[in-house]
Amino acid sequence: MRPLRHGRGIAMRITVSVIKADVGSVGGHTKPSPRMLDSVKAEVSQAIESGLLIDGFVCHTGDDIAILMSHMRSSGSRDVHQFAWNTFLAATAIAKTSGLYGAGQDLLVDAPSGNVRGAGPAVAELTFEHSLSGARPAESFMVFAADKCGPGAYNLPLYLAFADPMYCAGLMLPQMIKGFSFHIIDMDNTAGDSVIELDAPEDGYRIAALLRDNERFGIDRIVSRTHGEPAAAVSAQRLHAIAGKYTGKDDPVAILRNQGIFPAPEEIISPFAKAHFVGGDARGSHVMPLMPVPLNTPVTGIYCLPIVSCVGFSIDKHGRFSESYTDFFDNPAWDEVRTRAQQKAIEMRSQGWSGAAMLPYSELEYGGFRDTVGELAKRFKIRDERESAAAE
Ligand code: 13P
Ligand code: MG
Ligand code: MG
Repeated sequence: MRPLRHGRGIAMRITVSVIKADVGSVGGHTKPSPRMLDSVKAEVSQAIESGLLIDGFVCHTGDDIAILMSHMRSSGSRDVHQFAWNTFLAATAIAKTSGLYGAGQDLLVDAPSGNVRGAGPAVAELTFEHSLSGARPAESFMVFAADKCGPGAYNLPLYLAFADPMYCAGLMLPQMIKGFSFHIIDMDNTAGDSVIELDAPEDGYRIAALLRDNERFGIDRIVSRTHGEPAAAVSAQRLHAIAGKYTGKDDPVAILRNQGIFPAPEEIISPFAKAHFVGGDARGSHVMPLMPVPLNTPVTGIYCLPIVSCVGFSIDKHGRFSESYTDFFDNPAWDEVRTRAQQKAIEMRSQGWSGAAMLPYSELEYGGFRDTVGELAKRFKIRDERESAAAE
């Protein structure tokens, strides 16, 4: 599809989609194999050649393969989603042939009829007018991909980047001073997407009241209140809510537009310097700090230390990604954060299974831990006070 010409500039309604799935990994849940990645890259090249996609990029974070795509078929496009699904099926076949761990793990239904949201893969998409004029004389964006944690892992950093001038001084500028609208999803509601829209700054405390609960509430979308432009989209869906049982961690992705009317990259990534504690980690049941890492990092840290990567691209007037990208966390500036994350992890692991080191019982509901506790719960008896008094 060719972009439409409007007056002197070029305008097109473009969609940037990232669809990510764990479909098999080497030596346990660490990373996909090179053959799987080659297959996904070859499918993406073909899809660009056939005109389905304008552009594409493939990378992995831990055991999850992310496909980043630009196209003109809008969010939730059947064709684009089916393409991603079939590409993951082909990678699953390779994983099976090589006997890899968890082959096809995130493909939870037999064959989704269209949109793969709710079928297992993590999906985040932004659709917007792309004209390289007006409020967006240049278009740039970044994609976060995290492994071994849930969608709520982005709650704190994105709140700080889009609602707190201590982290984003840009919020004080005329382009952003009206703030951003947060669309927050109740991830426990499996009947459908249950969403509330709250405006920062005036609803800031209400937003925090929801976002403090990383396991239940997640940011689904952030929109500029000045320009009505979508700023961010997060794959805020829980795998256990889809599968009805624990099948792996949700491992969320997020797309964010940056610069100009949106926070700058440094304002967006700064909150990740906290290496804040998130749920997930070993058996999806623990609490560990989120470590920022370069693209294509396997998960080998203690107790499945959760990791997050961040890639940045510009987009040209045809909707193509810049020929090179920025790997935001692949910089010595982040080494100290990584060391601190490691120290926090060691501290937390020193208390093993006790209290805050593991997720609460309600979050273990879909794992075997719940079966163990459930069996024991049946054996509890109310003590007969008279019998115990007689025995004394
Ligand atoms: P993944 O969802 O990344 O496969 O992780 C599963 C897990 O439980 C790690 O311990
Ligand atoms: Mg896995
Ligand atoms: Mg994973």
